[in-house]
Amino acid sequence: MNDDFFLPLFNRFGLHYGMIDSELVLHFENDSICEFLSVSPCMKQVNLTDFLNEVIGQENEIRKVISGEKKEFSIRGINRSSDREIFFNLYFINHNYNGYPAVVVIRNITSELLFYHSLQQSRNEIQLLQDELLEKNRELDRINRELEEKVAERTKQYQESSDLAKRLFLQTVNSLTYALEMRDPYTSGHQRRVAILASAIAANMGLDEDTVEGIRIAGLLHDIGKIYVPSEFLTKPGTLPEEEYNVIKTHPLRGFEILKEIEFPWPVASFVLQHHEKINGSGYPYSLEGEEIRIESKILCVADVVEAMGTNRPYRISPGVSEALKEIGKYRGIKYEPSVVDSCCDLFRNKNFSWDE
Ligand SMILES: [Fe+2]
Ligand SMILES: [Fe+2]
Repeated sequence: MNDDFFLPLFNRFGLHYGMIDSELVLHFENDSICEFLSVSPCMKQVNLTDFLNEVIGQENEIRKVISGEKKEFSIRGINRSSDREIFFNLYFINHNYNGYPAVVVIRNITSELLFYHSLQQSRNEIQLLQDELLEKNRELDRINRELEEKVAERTKQYQESSDLAKRLFLQTVNSLTYALEMRDPYTSGHQRRVAILASAIAANMGLDEDTVEGIRIAGLLHDIGKIYVPSEFLTKPGTLPEEEYNVIKTHPLRGFEILKEIEFPWPVASFVLQHHEKINGSGYPYSLEGEEIRIESKILCVADVVEAMGTNRPYRISPGVSEALKEIGKYRGIKYEPSVVDSCCDLFRNKNFSWDE
């Protein structure tokens, strides 16, 4: 073997070599293998079975290589005599060299094994982290599901109580309307139609849904105060004596008193109180003007006039809707809010508004 060429190459790749004779004695000629095997450089040979426990029991296989029966045989070895453990593979190769029947090549696999072990350790750590993560994810999923169930349950409870509150609220409104209807069926029908027209005017003005609904509810109740007015005053044809008219004029305030204790989602009692106010101050009960009057009441006022003039009563023939529209047009900006009048006229003239269901 050309040591000048092979030794640096072998060293570079962690390889050392020696020769073996038929007595299983390892012969070597260079210092690198001595250093690797931690034997004294003056030694030129060692008995394999004395030197390497791993060889014991494998002698027959090695002899097969020496005799040529086998081309090659390998053993994994550990050198524990140095400060640290050195792992190596021992390859027995049938090759006649310098009169010896076989060559032994030793490959240092310590760094490979260390690398492999640290790789394996990293893999194990990653696996542990993944398992932990999976477990945490499962836990999170479980918590999420529990939370979703709780939210669904609470939403259902809330929905049920909200539905109940809505039903109670509508039942209250219906009962109040019904109370008036028992005395004066025409006023009750009037309230329903004012509610329909007033909420249509409000929606046509672009007011938000909640405001529109508040106006509709106030419309259904706006004349509730008439429950205090003797019914013969309400149904009397022609002009009323001032005394009787003064009694009728108390109905917005009476209505306010009836409704003020009910916790509506809107200030319905105030809407009702102001529904006969006019923007020039000619209305009642407080002769409020312009911006002093709520928009909801201004809408109720216009709807009230149009409905009253637009539909017949058994005790009087109505002038009709077109007369009613003329009337509110005439007093647009005087008694009635211009934007409300415009919206109302637009409904009848351009949007086919009708009370028919
Ligand atoms: Fe009224
Ligand atoms: Fe009315």
